[in-house]
Amino acid sequence: MRRVYADANATTPLLPEVVEAMRPYWMEHFGNASSIHIDGQQARAAVNRARETLATFFSCHAAEVVFNSGGTEGDNTAIFGLLRPGYHFITTSIEHSAILQAAQRVADRGIDVTFVAPQPSGLIDPADIRRALRPETRLISVMLANNETGVLQPVEEIGKIAAEAGTFFHIDAVQGAGKVEIDVRRFGCHLCSISAHKMHGPKGTGAMFVRRGTPIEPLLIGGSHERRQRAGTENIPGIVGMAKAAELAMQSLEDGTIPRLASLRDRLESEILQIPGTGVNGSFIPQLPGGPGPVSGTWESLNRVPRVANTTNIWFDQLEGEALVIALDLKGVSVSGGSACHSGATEPSHVLMAMGLNKTRARASLRFSLLKTATDADVDHILQVVPEAVEHLRALSPVAAGTLG
Ligand SMILES: Cc1ncc(COP(=O)(O)O)c(C=O)c1O
Repeated sequence: MRRVYADANATTPLLPEVVEAMRPYWMEHFGNASSIHIDGQQARAAVNRARETLATFFSCHAAEVVFNSGGTEGDNTAIFGLLRPGYHFITTSIEHSAILQAAQRVADRGIDVTFVAPQPSGLIDPADIRRALRPETRLISVMLANNETGVLQPVEEIGKIAAEAGTFFHIDAVQGAGKVEIDVRRFGCHLCSISAHKMHGPKGTGAMFVRRGTPIEPLLIGGSHERRQRAGTENIPGIVGMAKAAELAMQSLEDGTIPRLASLRDRLESEILQIPGTGVNGSFIPQLPGGPGPVSGTWESLNRVPRVANTTNIWFDQLEGEALVIALDLKGVSVSGGSACHSGATEPSHVLMAMGLNKTRARASLRFSLLKTATDADVDHILQVVPEAVEHLRALSPVAAGTLG
């Protein structure tokens, strides 16, 4: 059976070039970058080269790149590294749980946290961030692209607000990296986290931009690695693989891959929307110019919200998203639902709920996120199986029968 993987926001496969770049560093050049002999020096040289590549990727100096274990570590480092009791922290209610749960922990330790809600479109309004500022605000953390809806947040405007207020600004760029250009100077941030496995690099490897002079306390101590900002023997194959993935991602931003991906996503989305009782989460500003009011107008004439090119999040009325995920899986399509499993119970997505969806609609939502290697044939396959699966499940659905609230 043909399989199409449309869950790139969960993770991506290594590209062959990445595997090849990493290969010598498992067995041949296995040295510890802290050793002074030739084996150690080969490892050190590889890390230095990778750091230069990541500096180009972030548009920063090599000395401002810290390698770590991924997005979760970067997000945790920003929060635990800068916040102490008495400070105030601003973030949003649509962040990844690596931010939200770290925010909850610092809140339990005496730090005031404001969670700014998105607009129904999925966008954070910078004016809401400005309104949340207090004299004791130490840190603002806002994601570049939302992992569920793909909506791109106005980080440049938020960076200006942070600069005026004299507060630190962290961006979780995990879902933006490789999909849009990252320029930490333009974004006006002090910290920026990315993860290799979301852009065809290895899992368990990430990098963080730390603007020179940012007084961040390391999460891990016990060695002088990474300029004392992150102790632990460097994961050389991971770092080399991440640099290769970053290099390929920069090429993809210039060679037409992104517009091609956007047109595949748009075709997928507009054809799925032909199914009755469907709609997109995080796509349109639901108020047309001229003031508030119900959504109206043609699909094309509505105001579009900026999104990464590979993602669409779609609700299917009268369906349980989980059931559709399983039905599609059986037909060879991998996607994610708008729910997450917390302590054994399926909870509707906090992102979709924060955007104002009710529980039923949040639970009835699916995220399609295409790999940058996706083809027309992949989209054809998805479009072949989705309408059948929806029709079949609707015929059986307890939601349709009115027995499930
Ligand atoms: C927006 C966002 N931030 C952080 C993370 C965590 O990254 P990692 O898997 O590298 O720990 C993810 C992963 O899903 C993510 O989507």
